[in-house]
Amino acid sequence: MNEPLSCAQYCPRARQDKHIARACHCATPADRLKAVRLLFIGDVVGAPGRKAVASLLPGLRQQHGVDVVVANGENSAGGSGITPDTAADLFAAGVDVITCGDHLFDQPEVAELLDSETRFVRPLNHPPGTPGQGSTVWEHPGLPAVAILNLQGRTFMPPMENPFHAARAEVKRLRGLARVIFVDMHAEATSEKIAMARMLDGQVSAVIGTHTHVQTADEQILPGGTAFLCDAGFTGPHDSCLGRDYEPVIRRFLTGAPQRFHVARGRVLLQGALIEIDPESGCARSIRRISEPLAA
Ligand SMILES: [Fe+2]
Ligand SMILES: [Fe+2]
Repeated sequence: MNEPLSCAQYCPRARQDKHIARACHCATPADRLKAVRLLFIGDVVGAPGRKAVASLLPGLRQQHGVDVVVANGENSAGGSGITPDTAADLFAAGVDVITCGDHLFDQPEVAELLDSETRFVRPLNHPPGTPGQGSTVWEHPGLPAVAILNLQGRTFMPPMENPFHAARAEVKRLRGLARVIFVDMHAEATSEKIAMARMLDGQVSAVIGTHTHVQTADEQILPGGTAFLCDAGFTGPHDSCLGRDYEPVIRRFLTGAPQRFHVARGRVLLQGALIEIDPESGCARSIRRISEPLAA
């Protein structure tokens, strides 16, 4: 596991004037309130991914003193989409809020989640009239409120409303409800994810990318105090192409002919990121990548 990055290293007191309307998160340890520890789990793929969450999450919660768990569940049903049953598996395993992405409508049963599950968010920037919610505020006794916002990029992705305009307005609203704000930016292009994080720097606690299923090594705390990781990776079988058997994917690239992409088997990892957040300022104190193997 990687060593956490320290906010003191990335955000010295000399830069605290950038923390507009926020307390400086570089206070001495004695001055600090207990951090909120948020574990984000990258795209959970199929039964192997759900099994990894169920098996590994209790230990991770205990090991890291995790307060709140957010997981991207867009591939939790056979690798494509999400159903009430696969969402229930994740909630039962200890996930508090589930985010989604471009596979939102792959399973028709998702309608039930969109209509009635307050712990499920889909990308905010769907057109007006789309069922479901783009954000939620998670509350738990003894902990500060945590807002979770889901966005979807447009570069090499299906057409959507502009996520940048949508994010600006929604973050402004959420800042009236919670100081801790987590953003799952579901997007293909690194540039779009970096630009979103830079635009929201100092206004949200973390912007973590999903969708590519490849964990990046760029975890950092931006100058305004927002934790960032371009992609959290995925939770599922890694001897694969993004969680699917790679042979049909190779055939698809060789011939262009449609193939069935089954969820792979074998070496399973739970991937994501652990973020420590100052409850008063909402700034991130540290971020570390998580990549935990599931014992065979
Ligand atoms: Fe996706
Ligand atoms: Fe995905």
